[in-house]
Amino acid sequence: MQKTVKLEEIPDDLKLEMLKHNHYDQSNIVEHYNEAAEKYEQVYLTAGYHDPEKCAEVARDLFREEISTALVLDMGCGTGLCGKYLTDFGFTHIDGIDASSGMLEQAKSKNVYNELIEMFLGKPETYPAKFHNKYDVITATGILAEGHLDCTVFEEMLMSLKKGGYAIFTTRTMYLTQYKYGEKIQALVDEGRWELVREVVFDRYDQLDGEFGRFKKVEVRAFAYKKL
Ligand SMILES: C[S@@+](CC[C@H](N)C(=O)[O-])C[C@H]1O[C@@H](n2cnc3c(N)ncnc32)[C@H](O)[C@@H]1O
Repeated sequence: MQKTVKLEEIPDDLKLEMLKHNHYDQSNIVEHYNEAAEKYEQVYLTAGYHDPEKCAEVARDLFREEISTALVLDMGCGTGLCGKYLTDFGFTHIDGIDASSGMLEQAKSKNVYNELIEMFLGKPETYPAKFHNKYDVITATGILAEGHLDCTVFEEMLMSLKKGGYAIFTTRTMYLTQYKYGEKIQALVDEGRWELVREVVFDRYDQLDGEFGRFKKVEVRAFAYKKL
């Protein structure tokens, strides 16, 4: 049974941390996440952030047999929530990329990633060859969002995956149109580059009994696309 958090019960210091997540874009994203890293999980998990667990569940369901041999790349891994769930489910080789050293430090302390790489995503033209055609699974939670990655990251997902591998990612349903993610995802289907194998709909920030800053209940989708 999911617990509901009353806004008046949230301590002031945590409210201040929640407000930090209001305004930023790619020009100051590293500063923002370095500053927010230590309290990131407390903020997100208090509000009700299920994306990492949902994506890890989708990956587990797709890889039942070969879970321990699959190579996973967690794009925008942050503090490593997704890596932790993947490890709990039996995945043993997970690499992570993130632009924020502060978030990567938190991820490192979980001891669930093989390699953690500090790097900016969203630049397919210079995406390093060492990540090409290497992975069975890409996970990407919370990075297809306002101020985060645009559609170029889908190209990097496809570059990273082996043929037959899965890109598993989440985004708010409204962002599919607002940021044109849906258009690009469909274009890649039409071009025969990947196909949809799973879609899961759920709510994010559903543990708060109201709205605080950017945290209010919102519909999110987790997708799995198979590289053709
Ligand atoms: C909302 S957090 C999500 C972290 C983690 N995936 C999760 O679900 O908890 C967004 C993450 O994306 C990273 N990020 C944002 N833009 C990025 C970029 N261009 N390249 C790499 N990482 C980026 C941030 O540093 C941050 O750790």
